[in-house]
Amino acid sequence: MKGPQPWRRFLFLALFVSFFFYSASVYTSGTALNEGPVASDAALRGQTLFRENNCWACHQIYGLGGYMGPDLTNVINNPDLGPEYARMFIEVGTDRMPDFQLSDSEIDDLIAYLEYVGAAGNYNPKKGKVTWYGTVEYER
Ligand code: HEC
Repeated sequence: MKGPQPWRRFLFLALFVSFFFYSASVYTSGTALNEGPVASDAALRGQTLFRENNCWACHQIYGLGGYMGPDLTNVINNPDLGPEYARMFIEVGTDRMPDFQLSDSEIDDLIAYLEYVGAAGNYNPKKGKVTWYGTVEYER
């Protein structure tokens, strides 16, 4: 009775070694977190204002919220819109959006919050393109 053929041992060793390196990479780089941007104090105050004034009743962030007004996720980092554009709406309102009588510094905080939201993600995901290796990339 012979032992296993040498090529089988080699195959087993090759599988074992690749499994070892694969596991090592999954448990180190594979589980690294994408930390994302850090919210400044102004952005955190803006988030509170956004909640207190119920902006969510009419607006969405990352696609979630009310649907009377547009999604605000990328209103600041969209080159066609931007902070001055957003400020205009918040300062005076429109016939459908109320004027909240906010102070300049409160509006600054809201803009900081919206800027943070835009730096952390994108909406509308449908505008992303799927790359050949399967992830989605967005135009900024
Ligand atoms: C009663 C509903 C309502 C509430 C509440 C509301 N908005 Fe709006 N907002 C709108 C509508 C509707 C528009 C679109 C302009 C229009 O049609 O008048 C708009 C437009 C905007 C825009 C411009 C967005 C774009 O892409 O054109 C910004 C920025 C904005 N709102 C910020 C805010 C913030 C910040 C709050 C909370 C302080 C808020 N809104 C609360 C209804 C609302």
